[in-house]
Amino acid sequence: MKKLLVATGGGDCPGLNAVIRGIVKRASQEGDWEVWGSYEAFNGVMEEPARLLRLDDKTVAGIHVLGGTIIGTTNKGNPLKFPVKQADGSVKYINRIPDLVKRLKELGFDAVVNIGGDGSQAISQAMFESGMPVIGVPKTIDNDLSSTDFTFGFQTAVQIASDSFDRLVTTANSHHRVMIMEVMGRNAGWIALHTAISGGAEICLIPEIPYDLNKVIEKIRSRYNNGRGFVNVVIAEGARAKDGTITASKGEEGRNAIRLGGVCFTLSQQLKDAGLEADVRETVLGHTQRGGTPVAFDRIIASVFGVKAMELVLEKKFGQIVILKNNDYSSVSIQEAIKEYNIVDPEGTLVKAAKGLGISFGD
Ligand code: F6P
Repeated sequence: MKKLLVATGGGDCPGLNAVIRGIVKRASQEGDWEVWGSYEAFNGVMEEPARLLRLDDKTVAGIHVLGGTIIGTTNKGNPLKFPVKQADGSVKYINRIPDLVKRLKELGFDAVVNIGGDGSQAISQAMFESGMPVIGVPKTIDNDLSSTDFTFGFQTAVQIASDSFDRLVTTANSHHRVMIMEVMGRNAGWIALHTAISGGAEICLIPEIPYDLNKVIEKIRSRYNNGRGFVNVVIAEGARAKDGTITASKGEEGRNAIRLGGVCFTLSQQLKDAGLEADVRETVLGHTQRGGTPVAFDRIIASVFGVKAMELVLEKKFGQIVILKNNDYSSVSIQEAIKEYNIVDPEGTLVKAAKGLGISFGD
């Protein structure tokens, strides 16, 4: 029997379980592959004894509809920068990739499918370069990978944000308020832009188009002056004003700052400080966007990615990552895939269409 290890790393994402199920179902058709999951990314493998879950048709039955990941995930213990506490209390970061590859071989693994975002795929590439046969599966609700048209989890996040947006519209209308709804997306405005179009927002603020506060206020006032006594704003967590007031959520420090405040609160304060008369309320959707069952489209992408990843293993096309490009499922090298991010083009069709719908970007 040949042994395949599956790991899910980084932030979770609706569809992870559907990928796992796709891999296992396709593998079991072969009859000579055993699939194992490592708990909490590669941490499970590195522990003594290893914490692994045997994945077979029974274990994965029906899991494609479940949110999260049955093998858990983590942002801690990155083997490329593994924290080791020193005698003096300081922390030294070491590259644990050679140890990880050695350990996988000792445990008898012939190949690995690593499901994860950019950080996890950097780990995949390093493992591949160290001699481990690896296939990558891209994962992020942010949809910010340039090699694939869509990542699974994105449509679910947009659906959740749109549902919340619709609810905020009726309460904004009743109270004649300005509602600011903050969505995730890291340094990309995809979730915000799609939600704004789907929900019919008046204003959409994204990192790719730094906004001018005066323009935002102008739009709000014109809505009130035209007798539409409420305004709904979607703001991406990485949005920033032209003068740099809100800085994008880069890195752990930026993310922590956002957790403490939230860009929607900063914008709300800016509007008050600028003398906006309207009553303003803020909503941060946060991790609700990543929880629960994936919508059908995400289940489909994730399931096909799983099958495709297993097929790449069978074809021995290692160092590749599965993608969905031009309505077709294929693969590119992991190295290629992690080179570039896909962010919203301020001059692109979608932004132009949003503007055609009357959505202001505050530019
Ligand atoms: O990359 C996915 C994502 O959900 C981003 O949209 C968000 O900035 C980040 O992860 C949140 O990370 P954490 O789960 O560590 O709070």
